[in-house]
Amino acid sequence: MIKMTTLHSVFVCIALHFIGTVNTLKSLQIHVPKAVLTGHDADLMCSYDLEGAQLYSIRWYRNMIEFYRFVPKESPATKVFPVAEIKVDVAASDQNRVVLTEVDRTLTGEYQCEVSADAPYFHTDIKGTMMVVVEPPLTSPNVTADRLSYVGGDHIRANCSSPPSLPAANITWYVNEQMVPGFTANHVMNFSNGYASSLATLELEAAVHSPVPTLMIRCEASIFDVWRSTSHTIVLRERSANPASALGRSLTGAATEACLPTILVILLQFSLQLLQRYGGTSIR
Ligand SMILES: *[C@@H]1O[C@H](CO)[C@@H](O)[C@H](O)[C@H]1NC(C)=O
Ligand SMILES: *[C@@H]1O[C@H](CO)[C@@H](O)[C@H](O)[C@H]1NC(C)=O
Ligand SMILES: *[C@@H]1O[C@H](CO)[C@@H](O)[C@H](O)[C@H]1NC(C)=O
Ligand SMILES: *[C@@H]1O[C@H](CO)[C@@H](O)[C@H](O)[C@H]1NC(C)=O
Repeated sequence: MIKMTTLHSVFVCIALHFIGTVNTLKSLQIHVPKAVLTGHDADLMCSYDLEGAQLYSIRWYRNMIEFYRFVPKESPATKVFPVAEIKVDVAASDQNRVVLTEVDRTLTGEYQCEVSADAPYFHTDIKGTMMVVVEPPLTSPNVTADRLSYVGGDHIRANCSSPPSLPAANITWYVNEQMVPGFTANHVMNFSNGYASSLATLELEAAVHSPVPTLMIRCEASIFDVWRSTSHTIVLRERSANPASALGRSLTGAATEACLPTILVILLQFSLQLLQRYGGTSIR
């Protein structure tokens, strides 16, 4: 009878320790770049605090398949398994980090890091996140406008196209070096090889009596925070609509002096709106 009680309390004691270990492994954090350029290295980090317990193993998985294992008690401590085109820089990798070299697009996927504490609890926790390998466009985005000069009140349209990339680039417009808000939206043309090309259209209405007689338009294409490129700038010039605007001209001259530093004022005079997007063509 006494023996039974002792056994019971030993069991409860182990169970409590086990729950304690669950809490310590809650500190597990995974740091994987959201995006990395093809051909570059990817630095994957896993941080944890075992609160005094010994590390048993770290395992890394891509799409649930283990490609890297670090077990300090074993010799060698590191094992790399052949998974997809993954190349691990073993010398740069350890119990907190795995360095993948020369990543290519096939390595896009979910990466998970699993930590196990040593005996007696062997408690384990796992965290995962996506990494996208980016194939950037081969060239800068291209901007075109439907005219070279304008008079006040004209509707001006410009297109920006970014060549195929993976994934599609975001497009941002700049008018007189001011970013046009709300223009990351664009039309995407998907290709069968997975690449996609982005197109965006900007429509402006030129102000009547604009203090500045030019419109400088350019666009920028970007993919996450790993790639960014700007188009050339198109410069549209205002021409006088008719001789009667001579008074307007002189007023414009005066306004130029007063308002040039505040380009924002000029921008407020344009009404900006996204043209209807193109239809959903996809090329196969
Ligand atoms: C931009 O697009 C125009 C019209 O399609 C084309 O004529 C021009 O060659 C392109 N420029 C570049 C740099 O691709
Ligand atoms: C913009 O693209 C649309 C659709 O491709 C085309 O119809 C239009 O002519 C283009 N406009 C300019 C200014 O390039
Ligand atoms: C495009 O922009 C959106 C909004 O800022 C962002 O969430 C998304 O990650 C961007 N996509 C790319 C491919 O850069
Ligand atoms: C292109 O592919 C993206 C991502 O797969 C999808 O969200 C989008 O709807 C597709 N666009 C077209 C026009 O097929």
